[in-house]
Amino acid sequence: MVRLLVPREQAPGERRVAATPETVRRLMSKGAILHVQHGAGQAAGFRDDDFLAVGADLLSGEALPWEEVDGVLCVQPPPAANLQRLRQGSLLVGLLSPYGAADLAGTLNDRQASAIALELLPRISRAQSMDVLSSQANIAGYKAVLLAAAALDRYVPMLMTAAGTIQPSRVLVLGAGVAGLQALATAKRLGGVVYVSDVRPAAKEQVESLGGRFIEPPELEDRPAEEGGYAKAASEAFLAAQRRQLAEQLALADMVICTAQVPGRQAPRLISEEMLDGMRPGSVVVDLAVAQGGNCFGTVPGTTVERRGVQLIGADALPSSVPNHASALYARNVAALVEHLLADEGLQLDPEDPILDGCLLTHAGVCRREDVIYPNGSPNGGS
Ligand code: NAI
Repeated sequence: MVRLLVPREQAPGERRVAATPETVRRLMSKGAILHVQHGAGQAAGFRDDDFLAVGADLLSGEALPWEEVDGVLCVQPPPAANLQRLRQGSLLVGLLSPYGAADLAGTLNDRQASAIALELLPRISRAQSMDVLSSQANIAGYKAVLLAAAALDRYVPMLMTAAGTIQPSRVLVLGAGVAGLQALATAKRLGGVVYVSDVRPAAKEQVESLGGRFIEPPELEDRPAEEGGYAKAASEAFLAAQRRQLAEQLALADMVICTAQVPGRQAPRLISEEMLDGMRPGSVVVDLAVAQGGNCFGTVPGTTVERRGVQLIGADALPSSVPNHASALYARNVAALVEHLLADEGLQLDPEDPILDGCLLTHAGVCRREDVIYPNGSPNGGS
């Protein structure tokens, strides 16, 4: 029988959990045994009793059988001291922040443990039910608009009152990926007028189908290409043209939600200091890409900075601020992945499986994604 461990998250501020009573029940019905640490779901609103009721084996921190389990399901990587106890051939699944994660990979390889970094799961239809980045970015896009609306000095919807008519707020969304489209949908529900910028041609139709107004990218030959649903990095000349184009939009905006990204790269800088100077005092920028360097000048992770009356919110952990639903979706994604791996003999890891190929970070003592783990060149001399 496959034994899976769900430890309580240790990373500061992390309130999500990698399994919920629903997914524990689901995995147990496939024959797995689930060891869940006491209090693992507490911060996400799932009680120990709820896990017990579906048959989980509830354990205290000291009693967790790290050495014995076949797999560990987590949101963020557990402390190295725990990973050093993993047995050979066991599997760690989670959001492992793989870019530059040489220490983590080293620890796992020493143990000959395998690791799946959910950030690297391919965006293909077979893996859709496992797509943690999408489920969590959706939440981030939603919550970003709520934060911006709460900080804004205006109503979002149009209102007709006895004191006259209030015009709807103008919202600018940068990047029409998962987070951006959910930000658009949420801002529309609140009654805002929403403009959206993206560089991918497919984004226009998606934006318009949600009632947004698409801002066409600059007509330059080096418009960034698209690969696997992601935009490639834009050239500096393209970004400069884009900034010139967006400056006018920014001056008219009440709320700006920044979600533009290129995986594994610095986020494109779309709002410069000068552009911020043109914004109305009282307006708000929420930068979801702040952890990748930010789309906006001056945003700081986890902090709100006020600059000439404009609030710059560096939102870096939004899914964790909606922990119940974020966990419910995350846990379903993880359960779908585990089900995909479950075989009669245990967890079956085929590195050639198109779902695993890109996201299996370490396996059998080898780093499989040196390009990600050592972005500046491998310690063995490769690059
Ligand atoms: P995504 O990859 O689905 O979307 C990013 C979009 O940005 C793509 O549509 C891409 O074409 C677009 N883009 C790239 N370069 C651009 C440019 N120069 N101008 C305009 N658009 C451009 O990414 P997703 O999943 O929507 O995530 C968006 C951002 O939110 C990421 O930075 C991600 O790390 C972040 N995020 C933040 C969270 C938080 O708590 N702050 C939680 C989840 C995601």
